[in-house]
Amino acid sequence: MIDLSRPVGLMLVAILHFVPDGDDPYALVDRLLDALPAGSYLAASHATHDYLPPHIAQEAKAAARGGGPPGVINLRSLAEFTRFWDGLKLVEPGITSVAEWRAEDPQPRPSMSEVSMDGAVARKP
Ligand SMILES: C[S@@+](CC[C@H](N)C(=O)[O-])C[C@H]1O[C@@H](n2cnc3c(N)ncnc32)[C@H](O)[C@@H]1O
Repeated sequence: MIDLSRPVGLMLVAILHFVPDGDDPYALVDRLLDALPAGSYLAASHATHDYLPPHIAQEAKAAARGGGPPGVINLRSLAEFTRFWDGLKLVEPGITSVAEWRAEDPQPRPSMSEVSMDGAVARKP
């Protein structure tokens, strides 16, 4: 049971890039957030082409054109991912590569291009 009378956390981790533009992923996220009380949090990550070599990004975008086959990844830019956070209050450090999100400790981590995934956490006011 999820008690929607109290703030909850909505985790859309590596999910949104499976939703093609034609299914309006922004409206889907708005609908989910509308159901949550103020003070709830959204945590989401999303595959991006921003850190990939241009020729690989072009191939990936071509594969997803028109929705593509089921399971195809709809890479989105940082600007496109940023739209999901409209109206929310981002927690530090905001929207970044997940390779860099709170990466204060010195342990080895994959590069931004190896991960190719942006992420953020934000609070619904
Ligand atoms: C990479 S896994 C991530 C799973 C989990 N969130 C995690 O971080 O471990 C991607 C998930 O997206 C789901 N998925 C694929 N297309 C979807 C869609 N159109 N709507 C919702 N979920 C979808 C798959 O079933 C799969 O469980």
